[in-house]
Amino acid sequence: MLEARAAVKSLHAYRPPLAGRQGLRLDFNESTIGCSPRVLARLRSLDAETLARYPEREPVERVAADFLELDPAQVLLTNGVDEAIHLLCSAYLEPGDEAIIVVPTFALYAIFAQAEGARVVQVLSGENFAFPLEDLLSRISQRTRLIAIANPNNPTGAAVASEVLLQIAQAAPQAAVLVDEAYFEFHGETILNHAARPENLFVARTFSKAYGLAGLRIGILAGPREQMPMVRRVSSPYSVNAVALLALPVALADSKFVAAYVLQVKAGRAQLENDLSRAGIAWWPSEANFVLMRIGQRHREFGAAMRQRGILVRDRSNDPGCEGCVRITLGTSEQTERLLAAFHEVVSELKLETEVSA
Ligand SMILES: Cc1ncc(COP(=O)(O)O)c(C=O)c1O
Repeated sequence: MLEARAAVKSLHAYRPPLAGRQGLRLDFNESTIGCSPRVLARLRSLDAETLARYPEREPVERVAADFLELDPAQVLLTNGVDEAIHLLCSAYLEPGDEAIIVVPTFALYAIFAQAEGARVVQVLSGENFAFPLEDLLSRISQRTRLIAIANPNNPTGAAVASEVLLQIAQAAPQAAVLVDEAYFEFHGETILNHAARPENLFVARTFSKAYGLAGLRIGILAGPREQMPMVRRVSSPYSVNAVALLALPVALADSKFVAAYVLQVKAGRAQLENDLSRAGIAWWPSEANFVLMRIGQRHREFGAAMRQRGILVRDRSNDPGCEGCVRITLGTSEQTERLLAAFHEVVSELKLETEVSA
């Protein structure tokens, strides 16, 4: 009988709750307004010939490299950051190697590492999700071949300074260190200009969040010139489709569109944080397009009551250290108004305010 590898059989299926997502979708950290109208216009100009040919990634890689002020040899376009993670795991992890992650964090680091037969070493964040630098450094061993850190992190929104990340990369020269900057645009700080040195540092970016292109599946992996050919070897030359390649240069050129959206998201984030404090609900400062809050025992009822009001939020209660927590994505000013109106209704309906301050 055909059997999957033992490493694959022991994986937990990753099934994001994608069904029935009608309403204002503040549950997946996607853009709430979609992409720039210029990108849409470009997509509408799509012709049959573009679709008939296999996609040519390299010319668009040069555009992306220019945008990031990197050498094209350092840049690989990927089918979202998801593929970038997958490629690093395939390129660097042997069965029995160790991959270090800081939890709670994005689920796919552990899944792709385990699928290679690696052992995932989970380092628990400190109090209030403080970055556990000393703990992480103490867990590095000769078998550590991958360290993946989301900066800012998902689901906490917490960010870590570049110096700390560089210190980690220097402490583990035998490991590929991935700094996942999926939420970079909302944070504004990057380690990208260090992507050539140390020689084990990789940076990932996505067009799924601020650029509103999650459905197209496109991301960037940047890394040291010497290492990128190894990563390319495990990548399909066609993993980024022709439509995404058509859209990307236009998306990068319309920086005003992204900046205007980011501004609204950040204003909404501050408003939500302010209202959470006033309601006495615990929350954690976020550098991303979402806020994690501790609703408490009634977290499921909270999610259901928000859904009844047409607003989807994400329950994160099962993440390590996140008991009773919910994560809410921010969007435009108008959407934040809708969110806050529903939020206040639900807080008073479920008497969350009194429960927290009691
Ligand atoms: C930290 C982090 N990295 C990567 C991704 C996925 O990015 P992409 O859509 O480019 O695969 C997400 C999506 O939620 C994320 O939170």
